[in-house]
Amino acid sequence: MVQYNQHSMLLTGPDKEVFEELFTKQAEEALTHAKTWGEKIVYLGGVPTVELGEIHQSTDLTEMLEMDLELETRAVEAYSLARDVCDHVPTAYLLEDQIIAEQDDVERLAKILGQVRLARGAASAPSAQAV
Ligand SMILES: [Fe+2]
Repeated sequence: MVQYNQHSMLLTGPDKEVFEELFTKQAEEALTHAKTWGEKIVYLGGVPTVELGEIHQSTDLTEMLEMDLELETRAVEAYSLARDVCDHVPTAYLLEDQIIAEQDDVERLAKILGQVRLARGAASAPSAQAV
């Protein structure tokens, strides 16, 4: 949440018009997730942390996106580890939904960064041809 918010503020130049909304939306989504998990942790008898994770900053858009991809990848890993040890069924389902949401973020950022390779010939397949 903090990293996305910081990136939305540090971004300047023509890219700001396009990417500020993405960073702001991601920060808002992360706040919603933090609130959801904070409430769940209290329900389960724990105390949500007030410690911030490591925040990476940059003024370069590509670096920002790479940092955010790393953050999202670590989120998938952390929620997956939690799911592996969770024996409270409703929380397990919530963790699975969270893993799917974080993986969506990973895939969106990987596409934006051009890290996705299409299978050879995929672009000329009939379903991908222009009508
Ligand atoms: Fe995310």
